[in-house]
Amino acid sequence: MQENIYLVGPMGAGKTTVGRCLAGLLGCRFLDSDKVIVERAGLTIPQIFDQLGEAHFRALESRVLDELTQLPGVVLATGGGAILSPVNRAFLVTRGVTVYLYCPVDIQVSRTGQSANRPLLQCADPRSKLESLMRVRDPLYRETAELVIESSAGNVEKIAERILISLRNGVSEDHLASRVV
Ligand code: S3P
Repeated sequence: MQENIYLVGPMGAGKTTVGRCLAGLLGCRFLDSDKVIVERAGLTIPQIFDQLGEAHFRALESRVLDELTQLPGVVLATGGGAILSPVNRAFLVTRGVTVYLYCPVDIQVSRTGQSANRPLLQCADPRSKLESLMRVRDPLYRETAELVIESSAGNVEKIAERILISLRNGVSEDHLASRVV
């Protein structure tokens, strides 16, 4: 593989499962920035948010992204908020090719519903939270990514294959993902 591949997108888009599958197809290393943050902090993500605050989590996230994007030959899944920081966006844009796994809010809601591991969704109305996050973040995902892939259609292998084919063919957006958010 010539370039690192970085996956960005909202919670529930499947960045980790698709990323692991993609790395398998490419025979390269898979990394997940949230997993590395948890290992480094010795705390779960909810514990980091609770005990240290979101700002501290973002600082850890930035440090880990700086480190992981300097490694060669990797597929990296990032957290849904990784693109909020301009510095993080610059790491992603300059050190590899970034793919936005687009996923409609309905699917995000159904995929994240059972999880207690996402502190931002521990609120009265997770759907409105996901909607408002999407409004702010969708332009940032698109600004950072060279390719937008719809991740709600098809199984994980098919999505990973579509990413590879689109990257090889120089396509920038798969037709399903061009819907207005
Ligand atoms: C977050 C997404 C999470 C995790 C943290 C914050 C976000 O990652 O980084 O809970 O701001 O959207 P996933 O997108 O992998 O769930």
